[in-house]
Amino acid sequence: MAHSIETMISEAELQAQVVKLAAEIDKDYTEQDNLLLVGLLKGSVLFMADLCRAMKTPISMDFMNVSSYGAGTESSGDVKVLKDLDQDIKGRHILIVEDIIDTGNTLNKVVEMLKLRDPASLKIASLLDKPSRRVVNVPVDYIGFEIPDEFVIGYGLDWAEKYRDLPFIGKVIQQG
Ligand code: IMP
Ligand code: MG
Repeated sequence: MAHSIETMISEAELQAQVVKLAAEIDKDYTEQDNLLLVGLLKGSVLFMADLCRAMKTPISMDFMNVSSYGAGTESSGDVKVLKDLDQDIKGRHILIVEDIIDTGNTLNKVVEMLKLRDPASLKIASLLDKPSRRVVNVPVDYIGFEIPDEFVIGYGLDWAEKYRDLPFIGKVIQQG
């Protein structure tokens, strides 16, 4: 289908906000917390790479890949773990890093799952938030940008696996 990409959040805006979030997170953790960033694959990869480099607090990284989509484009409450964490998180300080919170279904399930493993603390950082779409309430501790209900791509977010590599957030404009 013919389409074009329109910039919603520029590279400079993204980078400035990531630096702000990093400073907020730095205020809340110390080196002694031995913070573990848990990135949700694949959308969070670019955000996490920039965020941890902007932070002063030393971190470790791990990744999880969960899929909450059935056949449709709407996430369901049904979350499948495609790749679990490599390590035990009991007693660890965890910060989940996500690209976008939409219905909240994905994060809600991930939080439920990780809480059962008894971490010392569990917080969430999401680059984007579409509050108008929320179905399940999930407390997000650090939010980069609130955006309207539009399908966005770039900076980790994809449309059928494309556009993750764009350095800005754009929206897809369908033509015809
Ligand atoms: P939720 O479970 O509805 O909150 O969906 C969250 C997941 O859906 C995110 O991790 C994204 O992978 C995906 N998603 C939601 N909205 C968008 C979008 O506008 N563009 C690309 N992916 C999206
Ligand atoms: Mg995702």
